[in-house]
Amino acid sequence: MNSVVRNVSIEPAVAAAEFRGAMRHLTGGVSVITAGRAKDISGMTVTSVSSLSVEPPSLIVSINRAASSWPLIARHGVFGVNILAADQRDIAERFTGKGGLKGADRFTGAEWTTRASGVPLLVGALAAVDCEVEETIERHSHVIVIGRVLDVIASERTAALAYWHGEYVAIDHEEDAARLAEVSLPSRHVHVRGPR
Ligand SMILES: Cc1cc2nc3c(=O)[nH]c(=O)nc-3n(C[C@H](O)[C@H](O)[C@H](O)COP(=O)(O)O)c2cc1C
Repeated sequence: MNSVVRNVSIEPAVAAAEFRGAMRHLTGGVSVITAGRAKDISGMTVTSVSSLSVEPPSLIVSINRAASSWPLIARHGVFGVNILAADQRDIAERFTGKGGLKGADRFTGAEWTTRASGVPLLVGALAAVDCEVEETIERHSHVIVIGRVLDVIASERTAALAYWHGEYVAIDHEEDAARLAEVSLPSRHVHVRGPR
């Protein structure tokens, strides 16, 4: 396996706040990463999941090394990716630790199942992906986790939850397509609607 780490040499001309401001424009699909097994579980809301390769099926996610889920992922070597539906905003909020919720308490109020890895997978997610850790790359405050996909639970649902400019937004293809047809606009793929 090849790994090339360059010594970066060009002085950056950007402050952290400026970079953060630029990244607010990047629309992110919202997922919950689940970690651990049985009662020793936690999870976190992320937007940093992306597909790495289809053959073999693999994905990446960047996780803050201070997050409570990271030691669980490192210890068990497995994790779940639960891609949230538009009506699962409350689950996204629970998994940011809102209201001081920690560990297994974040999981109450939703239904969970397991596959080969044993990590909790959200019943009713747009898709739930069971993963084994293939590689981790620690960089700056975060760790990039490469997950080998073990199993996928797909649903028929499509309306997705996204995060954009510091807010949760729903992306509902069916409803927006119908609305676009009503106003006879030329074709557009996706329309973003604010939270209800
Ligand atoms: C919309 C949204 C996206 C987030 N994406 C990430 C992410 O990609 N990686 C990350 O480390 N933290 C991300 N966070 C922050 C984590 O959800 C949060 O730090 C974590 O749940 C707190 O973990 P802990 O209380 O378990 O330590 C995101 C938060 C929000 C609200």
